[in-house]
Amino acid sequence: MSTVQEKIQDLKAKQEKVKLGGGAKRVEKQHASGKYTARERINKFFDPDTFVELDQFVTHRCVNFGMNEKELPGEGVVTGYGTVNGRLVYAFAQDFTVEGGSLGEMHAAKICKVLDLAIKMGAPVIGINDSGGARIQEAVDALSGYGKIFFRNTQASGVIPQISVIMGPCAGGAVYSPALTDFIYMVKNTSQMFITGPAVIKSVTAEEVTAEQLGGAMTHNSTSGVAHFAAENEDDCIEQIRYLLSFLPSNNLEEAPVVATEDDANRMDEELNTLLPDNPNMPYDMKDVIRAVVDNGEFYEVHEHYAQNIITCFARFDGKSVGIIANQPAVMAGCLDVNASDKSSRFIRFCDAFNIPLVNLVDVPGFLPGTDQEFGGIIRHGAKMLYAYCEATVPKITVITRKAYGGSYLAMCSQDLGADQVLAWPTAEIAVMGPAGAANIIFRKDPDVAAKTAEYVEEFATPYKAAERGFVDIVIEPKETRPRIITALNMLASKREARPAKKHGNIPL
Ligand code: HXC
Repeated sequence: MSTVQEKIQDLKAKQEKVKLGGGAKRVEKQHASGKYTARERINKFFDPDTFVELDQFVTHRCVNFGMNEKELPGEGVVTGYGTVNGRLVYAFAQDFTVEGGSLGEMHAAKICKVLDLAIKMGAPVIGINDSGGARIQEAVDALSGYGKIFFRNTQASGVIPQISVIMGPCAGGAVYSPALTDFIYMVKNTSQMFITGPAVIKSVTAEEVTAEQLGGAMTHNSTSGVAHFAAENEDDCIEQIRYLLSFLPSNNLEEAPVVATEDDANRMDEELNTLLPDNPNMPYDMKDVIRAVVDNGEFYEVHEHYAQNIITCFARFDGKSVGIIANQPAVMAGCLDVNASDKSSRFIRFCDAFNIPLVNLVDVPGFLPGTDQEFGGIIRHGAKMLYAYCEATVPKITVITRKAYGGSYLAMCSQDLGADQVLAWPTAEIAVMGPAGAANIIFRKDPDVAAKTAEYVEEFATPYKAAERGFVDIVIEPKETRPRIITALNMLASKREARPAKKHGNIPL
């Protein structure tokens, strides 16, 4: 019979064995490819010495294809909880050194346990994916495992922030769980996402493509829009996730943490009074406006590389988190298109779900015209923005800096879509369409088109027609923007807006 001391030694030996993962050789391979191991990632992510690992000794029970001979330490995934800047966070990290991080029945059960705990406790969950997808030997048990995860991802949606991190070649189910979560991070050159990899594509369609071209970080950050953030390396990625969490509440019943700031709430910015060019057709960088008004000029872009004609970012006003949606006149004149609509609608819905007020900076000439957009379903996609803004009950503040024409005026959260406060700079132009378009339609038979167009500019390319009807609450000097937004946010802090009871709405998808 073993002594107590022997039993303690036995426990330690078992723990050590699990910590070795797939063994020194595979760990070496992982490091050589610029990747950390699952445990290294977890340790870097959490505040020092706060991570508590669960289910270290869970094992698979598959006997197919020699699996009964295989021991898979930790079942190929490290799960547990800890703190990030002192706040409770749950996480799982798939261990690629153990059977390629592939997901079997019990691997899935470990992930489901942390998802269940995170939902019950109301804490964010971070999933670090480094996996070849469903464990082939486990057949339908593996598929069932993914099904259970998808179900929980969906239950958790809108209740706790879910952040997915892609840190290796992720295929099959390993990409669909992330796609159900709120944000996806990818690491340049060492992470890929695809439904089927290059080899399968070649065999089915003869198309030749590298893994990085097919599903690398920049492919998904700039072309497909599947991923929201691209990191230079894994350390950068982990830092960025911790930073993102600083803007978010832990769940849908809490407010985001307030971060003390030295930046004066009454600070005016004279430079904003000279930022806009006199010619309304000349571009400027909307990021200069954002920088000038938010606390310490600091903001964190979501989808920075995708649909750059619109900017979505987190920032703070007087220490409190907001989500900013801003047209970017420096890219495609700030027109709304299919991708910009998708990008902003999803961001609006995230902010609304998590009690983060919306600040909309508007300079938009319209929806991008053309067959490309019409065939791509701009009506359906653009409708998402209308829907998302109408649906959102968080405080909504709209600042119109320049153009706000037609449907895009509405789509950027006009008063009728529920903006609680609409501010306009004197440079705002709020009308059904721009002067050139108007001249083309209503003045085209007039002998003096030029004079009529000039009259239109004078009368309608201003904020005052809208202000006359009360659609603009206050016309402000550009330099006043920061204090005006902060005053409005303070006024709206107690906002409560009840909506008709329903199972759920049917947002156009
Ligand atoms: C079992 C797997 C595995 C899997 C990898 N491995 N994927 N084992 N099931 N799905 C094992 C390998 O056999 C290998 O074991 C080890 O993990 C490392 O894999 P390598 O191929 O050597 O690594 P690498 O060359 O880096 O390639 C990684 C990879 C590739 C691109 C992920 O392994 C791959 O294409 N795997 C299959 C991807 C896939 O099609 N998965 C099924 C998805 S279907 P050893 O013992 O040699 O170390 C799916 C259904 C859910 O997920 C759908 C829900 C909607």
